[in-house]
Amino acid sequence: MAKSSNRQFPEAGLEIGALRAEMDALAADDRRWDDPRNLKASYWAGADVVAVAREAYDRHIGDNAIYGASMFPSLVRYEAQVVAMALDMLEAPEGAGGGITTGGTESILMAVRTARDWAREHRPQVARPELILPETAHPAFEKAALLVGVSVRRMSRSPGYRADVEAMAAAIGDQTIMLVGSAPPYPYALVDPIDRIAALAQKHGLWMHVDACVGGFVLPFVRELGHPVPPFDFAVPGVMSISADLHKFGYSGRGASLLLLRDKANERHQRFSSDAWPSGTYSTLNFGGSRNGGAIASSWAVMRYLGRSGYRSRVAGILNTKAKLARGLAAGGRLALMGEPEGAHVSIVSDRLDMIAVAEGMEVRSWMFGRLQRPPGLVVILTPRHTDIVESLLADFDAVSRDVESGRRIAAGGAAVYVG
Ligand SMILES: Cc1ncc(COP(=O)(O)O)c(C=O)c1O
Repeated sequence: MAKSSNRQFPEAGLEIGALRAEMDALAADDRRWDDPRNLKASYWAGADVVAVAREAYDRHIGDNAIYGASMFPSLVRYEAQVVAMALDMLEAPEGAGGGITTGGTESILMAVRTARDWAREHRPQVARPELILPETAHPAFEKAALLVGVSVRRMSRSPGYRADVEAMAAAIGDQTIMLVGSAPPYPYALVDPIDRIAALAQKHGLWMHVDACVGGFVLPFVRELGHPVPPFDFAVPGVMSISADLHKFGYSGRGASLLLLRDKANERHQRFSSDAWPSGTYSTLNFGGSRNGGAIASSWAVMRYLGRSGYRSRVAGILNTKAKLARGLAAGGRLALMGEPEGAHVSIVSDRLDMIAVAEGMEVRSWMFGRLQRPPGLVVILTPRHTDIVESLLADFDAVSRDVESGRRIAAGGAAVYVG
């Protein structure tokens, strides 16, 4: 009987040449992540940085941090040093702690889990824990809440395109355990009023998490360069945890983020331990068990290679690119940045043009963006990869928006999708 197409495991292996050819064929229509026209999420900080990240990743590719203490103490050292550097960068007080997860989603999952167990101790009257999200918070919070058994109240508006703190205050009830703000959120790229949300959290005895997955390695350097950044890190009283992604603007290989805690003692609410099985005590801080040593080493290597000054100079370049983009769009008069985004990513909207048609026209010209649905627009993540493309980007925006304005281009497609 012929096997169905979802059951195919050839008996013979491939020799390396044939294997490469097959990989080339499978990847024939892939876009390159480091294509300068990729404004979606390229996080490229220079060929030298990629080489450092790759070398360290490769060195530890088979090493597993779950055996860090017994077999790979280097991974324990890398992780401790990465956390120490990040705590310094994010103004953490004495006694803070943290660890490396596999990505922003896992950092958020562990933050929600930690908050829930912390609340069991600090708010024992809560039977049906609930967290309150601004409209723009990442869906990872809903994913986390689902897994952890917490319900979610997501706000429906963002006045001035930032978190609706009044609505969050009004939503707080006797089952609320956690408030969230993003620095910045993905959709609108404008840092939430973290200090006001944290003050609310303090007033009501709630856990406050700052999602700095995108901004954690950007905003500290924007501030150091003398630009205005609203308070967003552990310098804000009441901020209990921060997520910051190493595999975004930390520039490490994929599979690394940080969850940082104001008080390391709260790790006990994050830790899972069991000795129920026949192999002794199993205890981890993360949702995952095995952790790729390569991602951890890569994070350490890039941070040590760049130092604060390396991150700062890259952020300076990004701010320059952003300013050129903003000036160019303003001169064209058809498209505009949404507000004045503080960090490295921006949203582009229009009060005159169909932005779905603009996005499609730009995609035909090989540009890659994230999409915004409410209101229709584009999400553009600027990195050092984009230093030299602003003029051609602006020229294409100009041509495409003229086409949309004159009716030569109309939208073919529909909603913004983000499917993994
Ligand atoms: C603000 C924000 N938080 C969290 C995440 C989730 O990160 P990850 O995709 O690494 O799980 C993202 C991803 O883009 C994000 O933009």
